Amino acid sequence: MKVLVVGGGGREHAICWKLAQSPKVTELYCAPGNAGIAQVATCVPVKATDVENMVKWAKENAMDFVMVAPDDPLALGMVDALEAAGIPAFGPRANAAIIEASKAFSKSLMKKYHIPTAKYETFTELDKALAYIQEQGAPIVVKADGLALGKGVVVAQTVEEAQQAVREMMEDHKFGASGSTVVIEECMVGPEVTVLAFCDGEHLVPMLSSQDHKRAYDGNQGPNTGGMGAFCPSPKYTPEIAQRCTREIFLPTVEALKAEGRPFKGVIYFGLMLTQDGPKVVEYNARFGDPETQPILSMLDTDLMDIFQACVDGTLDQVDIKWKQGAACCIVLASGGYPVAYEKGYPISGLEEAGKQAVVFHAGTARNEAGEIVTAGGRVLGVTAVGSNLEDAIAKAYAACKPITWQDMHFRTDIGKV
Ligand code: AMP
Ligand code: GLY
Repeated sequence: MKVLVVGGGGREHAICWKLAQSPKVTELYCAPGNAGIAQVATCVPVKATDVENMVKWAKENAMDFVMVAPDDPLALGMVDALEAAGIPAFGPRANAAIIEASKAFSKSLMKKYHIPTAKYETFTELDKALAYIQEQGAPIVVKADGLALGKGVVVAQTVEEAQQAVREMMEDHKFGASGSTVVIEECMVGPEVTVLAFCDGEHLVPMLSSQDHKRAYDGNQGPNTGGMGAFCPSPKYTPEIAQRCTREIFLPTVEALKAEGRPFKGVIYFGLMLTQDGPKVVEYNARFGDPETQPILSMLDTDLMDIFQACVDGTLDQVDIKWKQGAACCIVLASGGYPVAYEKGYPISGLEEAGKQAVVFHAGTARNEAGEIVTAGGRVLGVTAVGSNLEDAIAKAYAACKPITWQDMHFRTDIGKV
């Protein structure tokens, strides 16, 4: 099969790395890809959000299957457009990807189908939002409705901070149109766990549970990032909690989407908080998480192409999905200054040595004119190792990071430990 993966980060490298192991995949392409992905797939210079040209390229080059990984092309309807062109595509259609693209939508879906989540109200008028915050008091959480690169959420400790956040979203349009509607919700307390699940519209199969680390610095300090590391499975996600999540959250979500005429095919990302009242949904995403995918797919034994095809064909119940024993850990190596301001273009050394000990997934890399692999983004690499248990996986991943260096490289030293 000729397969195209859409995207160009660490998550897409992990997906390509796994698909390249499938005997079914004879030709693998990735658009736009990066310097690491180029080692396992042919990179195609089409932007991930360019729906029209992506479909055109896939058609002209006779792709048998397309996997759309990032949130924005899914929200823009890339899967719908590929299907209309007769190309099987993995990922939700736009009408199901809305569970991530609109928090107002996902909150109202959860309310309607009694799926546990934080209590909330939605606002389109500034005065009413400010008054509601005053009335509820702090701590309280303010969220921009639309996609905001993971930065549209403020967990406010005071009424003033929450009101300031609402003003920035609704009055100053800090997130553009994404912030003209805001969701204001109750602040939940408890450990956070992520569960990704494959879905074929009817059936759902959860993957291993995972945890990521969003803050930039050790001890969960500093600004929020796209993720500084992740590991799986999460020791906090016990079999009892898993059963409860399947019964109260996962299956009701798939049923709800089906009942609304928005059957979900692809990966649902359940961001969960394990509160005293039981597990609750913090957020849904309509795709694989980054960097959670890197350790999770490192643990997968089953052919990923078989799973993708079953999701598209509606036959997921017939696939036996197997995982390795033990655990996996991914350390993100980032550019100094990330997530605020950072330089690009620094040559990276030690990749070959690190690659002997672990899998080095590339997130933001490119080749310069001299043919060297250089930094090309905030998150640059995701060094991922599998171990007999979590401690072992963490130790192996950190050991593999040792040979890698470039100017101002930054990473957390406590992934998996806090
Ligand atoms: P989100 O983009 O919705 O995942 O939110 C980003 C982060 O904000 C989450 O990972 C949580 O740590 C935090 N958060 C979001 N909603 C809540 C909530 N209702 N209560 C407490 N923390 C929250
Ligand atoms: N790691 C968080 C996300 O992919 O949204």
